[in-house]
Amino acid sequence: MRNLLNLNDPTLLRTDAYIDGRWTATDARFAVIDPATGEDLADVADCDAATTNLAISAAHAAQRGWAARLPLERSTLLRALGDAMFDNEADLARIIGLENGKPFAEAVGEVRYAAGFLTWFAEEARRTNGSIIPSPFADTAVLAVREAIGVAAIITPWNFPAAMMTRKIGPAFAVGCTIIAKPAEQTPLTALAIAELSDRVGFPAGVFNVVTGSAESAPVIGEALTSSRTVRKLSFTGSTVIGKLLATQCAATVKRVTLELGGNAPLIVFDDADLDAAVAGTIAAKFRNAGQTCVAANRILVHHSIADDYTERLCAAVDQLKIGAFDSDAQIGPLIDDVSVTRVQHLVADAVSHGATLVRGGDVTEAGSQFFAPTILTGAIPTMSCHTDEIFGPVLALTEFSTTSEAIAIANNTDAGLAAYIFTRDHARAWNVSRQLEYGIVGVNTGAISAPEVPFGGVKQSGIGREGSHFGTYDWTELKYIAMAGLHPEQDPTQ
Ligand code: SIN
Repeated sequence: MRNLLNLNDPTLLRTDAYIDGRWTATDARFAVIDPATGEDLADVADCDAATTNLAISAAHAAQRGWAARLPLERSTLLRALGDAMFDNEADLARIIGLENGKPFAEAVGEVRYAAGFLTWFAEEARRTNGSIIPSPFADTAVLAVREAIGVAAIITPWNFPAAMMTRKIGPAFAVGCTIIAKPAEQTPLTALAIAELSDRVGFPAGVFNVVTGSAESAPVIGEALTSSRTVRKLSFTGSTVIGKLLATQCAATVKRVTLELGGNAPLIVFDDADLDAAVAGTIAAKFRNAGQTCVAANRILVHHSIADDYTERLCAAVDQLKIGAFDSDAQIGPLIDDVSVTRVQHLVADAVSHGATLVRGGDVTEAGSQFFAPTILTGAIPTMSCHTDEIFGPVLALTEFSTTSEAIAIANNTDAGLAAYIFTRDHARAWNVSRQLEYGIVGVNTGAISAPEVPFGGVKQSGIGREGSHFGTYDWTELKYIAMAGLHPEQDPTQ
């Protein structure tokens, strides 16, 4: 295999599982493929149930000691890991860009976004505050303390191989949980590089374990994690279908689950919107990671009175987007695999066959078989697949509306409820529409809503729980109520 990664620090390329502070080889291996070229980047350990159980045991052995450390010690290690990511930004970006397909600028952006979760939660590690409750009982103190849930499993997706890992390990490590992480089979190298950095900065053995596996092994690893009585929590980011399956499996041992699942984001452009801001926001909300994000604008609802003007400006902006692989100044990379290409082709064909008009793009480009052109469809209607399904590709489907209540009804007509976007200059409308949208996140006059400081998560079938922000440690702790009786001064012999 040629060394395609060509890292400044080649020792960041790890291909074995990381268990109990040791790199653990397996006989079975699977290939990680560059989606831009189809070339093999590396052969990675294909773990099974037995290897996963070793990782669970290691995480269990390490957990009490880790939780017993001073919050400041956990904070210092988290900050060191975040700093190590910033220090190795170029190499991490290269690993992300080659295994995921992100162009250079976007891959660097992901490293910074990802490291930001670690430095944010390094600070939150010192603020896992509880409460002292005015006591309803005589001579009794009543307290609520927050304690680490314990051993936790995390399963992360390929679309943000670094950021979805750090958004979970940041709060987990901050409060004292230990982790068995299973990264997506398409992008395990980023997770392994983060594990390598955690080892270098001094995380104790067993605190962070990474179990890699192929698509065929994923259900076996998932079953070992979800059926374990030792694992007390599962945090998953990925498709709604797999999320429901994992939640069902977790029910047998009554695990805590945090799920960040699929979206179907509406982006509403009202007649009073600043159209330049609306177009810039649409580009940002749609084309990040070639449309492969859960918060990507999926249905563009535009007031009929400004639809022509908005569409014309949107076409001009889309014409400026460059398509290319990691080593380029492009904004749009390849889709992750050929299955994704076929799915997006079907969505476009379905829309056109039901009356939508294709005004830009529509298929793959000469850049390669997985590089899908930025695509604009007008005349989309709610029964088309591009409205009912998560597109997860660079396709904008435009639908015209006449009244605010019609736009809200279309926007809420889905089981998903992750992100929504609105563009208007009217503050009362911005407020009232934001409150009526059944979504966990609403961007008003912006298409960029992600950051370590904000609570990320959805309602309805888009998930359970929130990640990031000062709320982000809540999902990793249990609240323990302690009633301490016998506190009357007469019961104190020293009084
Ligand atoms: C996702 O697509 O799941 C996450 C996107 C983000 O963090 O902004």
